[in-house]
Amino acid sequence: MSEKIRVENLCKVFGPDPELAMRLLQSGLDKDAIFQQTGMVVGVNHANFHVNEGEIFVLMGLSGSGKSTLIRLLNRLVEPTHGQILLGGHDVASLSNKALVELRRKDMAMVFQSFALLPHLSVLDNTAFGLEVAGVGRQAREKRAMEVLAQVGLQDYARRLPSELSGGMQQRVGLARALAVDPTLMLMDEAFSALDPLMRKEMQDLLLHLQSEQRRTIVFVSHDLEEAFHIGDRIAIMHGGSIVQIGTPNEILRNPSNAYVKAFFKGVDVNKYLLASDIVTRNETLEIRTTADLRADFSGAVEQLKAHQKHHACVVNEAGQWVGMVSVESMLHSLEAPSVSLPAALLVGVEPVVGHISLKEVMRCLVKTNLPLPVVDAAGYYMGTISQQVLLRKMVEEENNHG
Ligand SMILES: Nc1ncnc2c1ncn2[C@@H]1O[C@H](COP(=O)(O)OP(=O)(O)O)[C@@H](O)[C@H]1O
Ligand SMILES: [Mg+2]
Repeated sequence: MSEKIRVENLCKVFGPDPELAMRLLQSGLDKDAIFQQTGMVVGVNHANFHVNEGEIFVLMGLSGSGKSTLIRLLNRLVEPTHGQILLGGHDVASLSNKALVELRRKDMAMVFQSFALLPHLSVLDNTAFGLEVAGVGRQAREKRAMEVLAQVGLQDYARRLPSELSGGMQQRVGLARALAVDPTLMLMDEAFSALDPLMRKEMQDLLLHLQSEQRRTIVFVSHDLEEAFHIGDRIAIMHGGSIVQIGTPNEILRNPSNAYVKAFFKGVDVNKYLLASDIVTRNETLEIRTTADLRADFSGAVEQLKAHQKHHACVVNEAGQWVGMVSVESMLHSLEAPSVSLPAALLVGVEPVVGHISLKEVMRCLVKTNLPLPVVDAAGYYMGTISQQVLLRKMVEEENNHG
């Protein structure tokens, strides 16, 4: 995975004497204290992170936490007070104004919360606007604009004016305009926040759909945890200008770094973001490592299962990789045969799932069977099982933790 953006010790102070504010930050004062002492605002405080190519990276936090300042620092709409931004390995600070303008036109597009469409231009001309500014001829830019309008489902509205469109449709035009220049990097600041919840979800899904085909690098600002978790590959949570945690939705959920982060979970259906590997257990079924002596393995397993009043065992090979599932009955049946054979004892149709599938997918598998669901890792190593009981217990537990 290559790195698209690297940000090191990035700071932004708004005010007449940023150096003074920087010294106060070094001495340990926080944003509030510096504001009280000097009237200056620390917008971003020593941010460190990287964004991988093809990733959706979300900046999340309450209003005023520094998200917009940080995303604007990336394309130097805001000039940094301190620190470094590398874009594809190049220091953004060292770009000449001309190079910066080129970069913003051709390789980086921004989508704002206020759709920022030009009211007197048609949807088509709005979409082609960035291309026009970049000097692309009429025919070529209209062709490209029609292409991206089709991608966002607005091909039939090309001749309309923005005012004739709903809010959701207007933001599709905003998205199309950004896509038109075919940027490798898209910066989206609360792009869907002004939309009603249904339209918002639709835009999120559209973005994910486009992303599955086009693999751009996207930095997305949101104040909403559900949105961040839904679209973000990784999320940076901001508080008072600082990044307080970075991780995948699952990592953040399982291990919130402080109470501020945890407070965002309130009212969110966190089960959606748990994975099979979060709830898999080895306590439900017995694990049998097959040896040369199947008869002994099975006899031992039957005894143990009976002793613990369980019904199923998972068979793994010498290395611990998944082979199949057996039941007390299937083993007894096999033991009666003159030569005990493993294939004959395995339950048919039992397929393991991989640990990184979501609980939602686990549920889909579990409604189809009464057997425990075997889980393996990406290399096929047995991790354990999930039964309907385990799943229910976990969901109730999470509800109590976060609800
Ligand atoms: N141009 C500016 N001048 C002075 N203060 C600013 C300016 N822009 C932002 N701020 C301050 O910087 C902090 C972060 O703002 P912002 O990045 O807009 O937060 P967010 O996008 O998370 O709501 C806030 O305290 C805000 O008041
Ligand atoms: Mg903002």
